[in-house]
Amino acid sequence: MNNNINEAFEGTRNAGSIAASALDEVNKIIKPGVKTEKIDKLCFEFINDSGAFSAPLFYRGFPKSCCTSVNHIVCHGIPGNKILKEGDIVNVDVTVLKNGWHGDTSRMFYVGDVSVKSKNLTKTTYEAMMEAIKILKDGVTVGDIGSTIQKYVEKKGFSVVRDFCGHGLGKNFHEEPNILHYGEPGTGNKLKSGMIFTIEPMINEGKFETSVLKDGWTAVTKDKLLSAQFEHTVGIKKDGYEIFTLSKKGLNFPPQK
Ligand code: MF3
Ligand code: CO
Ligand code: CO
Repeated sequence: MNNNINEAFEGTRNAGSIAASALDEVNKIIKPGVKTEKIDKLCFEFINDSGAFSAPLFYRGFPKSCCTSVNHIVCHGIPGNKILKEGDIVNVDVTVLKNGWHGDTSRMFYVGDVSVKSKNLTKTTYEAMMEAIKILKDGVTVGDIGSTIQKYVEKKGFSVVRDFCGHGLGKNFHEEPNILHYGEPGTGNKLKSGMIFTIEPMINEGKFETSVLKDGWTAVTKDKLLSAQFEHTVGIKKDGYEIFTLSKKGLNFPPQK
């Protein structure tokens, strides 16, 4: 790897590690009765105390430091006075800017005990993301990623959201390439060693269609059925990949003990 790639990987490793640790902290407070704005406050403070910035805050007018997407919310839920209740599933998405580099990650959390249906959807979403990560190396195409996720998810009877995708990141929060979570093997751009991007599939219990609420951000399933999402920031290497946003405490997947 040349020096520029080393610098980008090292920068993203630092940012990604803070982002993952923020979610490890979030895990400590998720329980019935907690307001989503408490999650936001924790993320804001943890990220600041780590000498970093929260990238979502004021990004294109977004008002908060993380996204909290509960149940049928697909993504970009805005933290506020909503109270988490027993049986909810919630995605918390944080993006950290540290020394000029970004790390972007999200996980699902269970609020108390959740239904078998919620667990199946959550498990399938996580496994689909990890299956796609496992194939990563120089020369794999964007379509290979999408088709791996789509096949895995549709086999279980769930659907892949089309309206949002993963993205390159580095010095910018969102940049080329777009990483679609559906597609055909062998199609699309080839991934090259040194590329850094997210894989962040949003998987719906019912149909894949989404709509955005009047707040201009909150994306929901049109059919009001559940949606789940996980996100890792990854880097391509000649013979494989690096995941920059793994939990140092092994809390990547619920129920996080
Ligand atoms: N973190 C989200 C992503 O995965 C983007 C959030 S944009 C925000 O790309 F403005 F809603 F925060
Ligand atoms: Co992202
Ligand atoms: Co994100």
